Order: sequence, then C-alpha cells, then structure tokens
Amino acid sequence: MSTYTTAWKSPSNIALVKYWGKKPTEVQIPSNASISFTLKNCATSTTLTYQEQDALDISVRLEGKEEPNFIPKIEQFLKRISGLFPFVLTGKYTIDTSNSFPHSSGIASSASGMSALALCICDIAVEKGLLTEDKFKETASELARLGSGSASRSVYGPMGEWGKHVDFPGSSNTYAIPYPDVADVFLDYCDTILLVHKGQKTVSSTVGHGLIDDNPYAPARFAQAQENMTKLQGILSSGDLDGFINLVESEALTLHSLMMSSNPYFILMKPETLQVIEAIWAKREKDGVKWCFTLDAGANVHFLYPQADKAAAQAFIAGELAQYCENGAYIHDEVGIGAERL
Ligand code: DP6
Repeated sequence: MSTYTTAWKSPSNIALVKYWGKKPTEVQIPSNASISFTLKNCATSTTLTYQEQDALDISVRLEGKEEPNFIPKIEQFLKRISGLFPFVLTGKYTIDTSNSFPHSSGIASSASGMSALALCICDIAVEKGLLTEDKFKETASELARLGSGSASRSVYGPMGEWGKHVDFPGSSNTYAIPYPDVADVFLDYCDTILLVHKGQKTVSSTVGHGLIDDNPYAPARFAQAQENMTKLQGILSSGDLDGFINLVESEALTLHSLMMSSNPYFILMKPETLQVIEAIWAKREKDGVKWCFTLDAGANVHFLYPQADKAAAQAFIAGELAQYCENGAYIHDEVGIGAERL
C-alpha cells in the first residue's frame, strides 16, 4: 500500500467570453465556448497526500483548519472523475489547501481550488503509471472541468479556451486548451478586483447555469457567444483595445441580463456595481483611457487596464473606485502563466 504526496498552485481566471449554460443531458458540457485571462495573484495552493487503502476517507484543511463542509463536493468530484481513474474512489485523502485571497472576499475559489486538486490527482495517476506526461495538462483540465467548468481553463496561461469551436483548432467540450495568439499588450494585462460585496452569493453559478435551459433568449445567446469567440481572436492578436472594451463589457452585461431573464429571475449586481461601471464609463468619456470592466457571477467588478497605464489606473482606483468597495477593499492582479507544481 503506497503513499503519494504532491502539491500544486493553481490560479483563478476571469472569462472574457462567458460560459453560462450547460448541455442538460450531459455532465459538465458547456453550451458555448468560453475564453479567459488566467490570473497571477489569486490562486489556491493545495497539498494532497494520498494513501492507498480499501475504504474512502477524506479530510480537508483550509488555511490549516479542518473544513468538513468541503467533503461532499470533493466526494462528488471523485465520483465524476472515477470514469477516467477508478482508483480515486478508494484511499485516504489528506488535503491541505489555502487561498491567496481572503475566503470572505466573494471571489469564487472553485476554479483555482478544483484545478489545483485535479493537477494533484494527475500527479498520482502518473506515479501509478496510469497517465503519461504528454497527456498531463489535457487530463488535468478534463478532471478540473468535472469539478467546476471554469476550472478547466485555469490550468493554462496566459489564456485558456474551453468548448468546441470551429475557429479554435484542437478545442474540445471536455477540456480546455492554451490560447497563445495574443498581442503583447494583453500578455500582462492588469485586473484589479473591486470587492463591492464580500458576502455569499444569493444564487450559485451551478444553479444559475441550470436556469438557462428555460430562458427564451438562450439559443440567441449561445450563437452570440460563438460569434464573439471569433471576433475576440482578431482583437487579441491585433491588440485592438477599443474592440476589446466593446466585446468584453458586452459579454459581462449579457451574462447578468441572462440572470435577470431567467425564471426564477435574480440580480447579483449591487448598487455599487453600477456605480463602479458608471465611474469607469465617465472616466473613459472624459480622458479617453482604454480601461474597462468585466463581471463574473457576483457583485464584484474586474477592472481591466493595460500594464502601461498601471500607475494612473491604480491612482483612479484609490481615488475614485475604492469608495464603492466594501471596506475599501480591492485586489490587484494581472495575467499570469497558469498552474505551477510546488
Ligand atoms: C460566470 O465554472 O463556477 O464565471 O461548472 O457549475 O462549477 P460550474 O460553474 P462555474 O461557472 C462560471 C461562470 C462564470 C463565467 C465563466 O467563468 O466563464
């Protein structure tokens, strides 16, 4: 009976074209392709010790403290990935995990957390002779997807693409691929996460995805997302900042309009979310800056700007945007290189 120990640090990501909706009869298959910037600073570090034994036994520590609430989600994850690696259904798992961002920040840890765990499990699969290095990242992304769809993209930097799309050779609904065809300006693009509301979301992403099946706008949305993926390719390779702003903000507002047009309908934005958006638009109008926003499934705003504008944009954050953040809190981040073995 062998014991294996491994550790990975995997980042969060922020989608530019959003994944919102899954195929109802399949497991974690997206209704449209999506693409994201992989972040650098917001990450989960996970150490996994796996001991072979006949029974399944899981213990999880978050920031050094036992976290039994995570166990059901991990059990569900192991069941889902057992089709690829049957060994995962037995064994003693000791999982030590920590996030670089505060747990109560409202930043979803599922993308970073699930991808870190998936990468650890792939290391064990390699040790056991069940996986070869050439398929390592692809398989890790596939496992991560089964934990949380957006997690599939976190394996790769600077950008990850997930979902079958004719214009993305090698793309797949079951795993993400790296997306390298990016002009220099985007390789170190900045993302400051404005923590407008740090509380729990009223509706989880998983529930939100399910509501899209009955949304009358869904077919048009899925077609629009596929078109936006193609448009974004040109924008990313040419460094077209105006095109970027228009597409990325439209995607963010479309995501939230899908929530508002679901039934039951819901709103995850807070008044401060709109105040931040208006302040960014006013600044752009006044000074012609190329700064914009995107949103994930929550009230926080991701404020995006080029590295060259860092000093001015961060002065704008401290002077104008921080007032809309809970306790004035925000996190500076930027595009990163993807997951790293520790
Ligand atoms: C709005 O990946 O969190 O962030 O697959 O159910 O775990 P599950 O959902 P999740 O959904 C992310 C939705 C999003 C958009 C995106 O990241 O593409």
